Amino acid sequence: MFFRRKQKPLPPDALPAHIGIIMDGNGRWAEKRSLPRQVGHRYGARTFRKITKYCEKIGIKCLTVYAFSTENWKRPQSEVDSLMALLKEYLEESLSDFKSENIKTRFIGDISPLSPEIRELIKKAEELTKDKTGLCLNIALNYGGREELTRVARSIAKEVAEGRLSPEDIGEELLQKYLYTAGQPDPDLIIRPSGEYRTSNFLLWQSAYSEYVFTDVLWPDFKPADLDKALREYAKRNRRFGGVK
Ligand code: FPP
Repeated sequence: MFFRRKQKPLPPDALPAHIGIIMDGNGRWAEKRSLPRQVGHRYGARTFRKITKYCEKIGIKCLTVYAFSTENWKRPQSEVDSLMALLKEYLEESLSDFKSENIKTRFIGDISPLSPEIRELIKKAEELTKDKTGLCLNIALNYGGREELTRVARSIAKEVAEGRLSPEDIGEELLQKYLYTAGQPDPDLIIRPSGEYRTSNFLLWQSAYSEYVFTDVLWPDFKPADLDKALREYAKRNRRFGGVK
């Protein structure tokens, strides 16, 4: 009889400080089971909770998940409504977890078109968790890398027009201060499940030197063991950041 040898956990310095996840494949997961796409999103939300808790447990500093992109408004209204309802449910149900867990939850993206109830719940979640010292969780909601960079350009142009900055002050460091992720490390690792090989407007600036891991697993089926596999793959990469090593 053969037993699979348990893999040794990676040492903390081999772990990425920041992981990004494009939670893809909910729709196909549901379609494969002849279920409505909404059911796939519901199972995807469960996976999101499980993986967030796991990241906190193994000591990841920062996790950014792509929950709704600036392009997702193009989906049928019924699907958009069900994603918003799911988000509202998650926020309402998590209020007690937000208090007890050591996770700092933040939302990145333009939340202004969301309903007043959702915006209020987002405010509450951010307020309840702002002093937490564990995992920093960014939920990307109505997020698009191009929208983020356009917004940065507009803010900097305004500072220049109003005389608070001169064009010579504009450099990479300054620009970074205007990103939704200001003050956080760039993602070291970005995981995309579901067999798609695209970045889909996710963290465009921040991902300049991210390592990508793609897997065929659909997001609702993604397990902590799949994250471990991605982490082991990441640990083998030779990151050179454009230099020589
Ligand atoms: C992409 O899969 C997934 C989304 C557009 C939504 C992701 C949202 C969740 C996982 C729920 C998260 C919820 C909370 C509460 C933060 P897809 O629908 O494009 O799948 P497909 O490519 O198979 O059609």
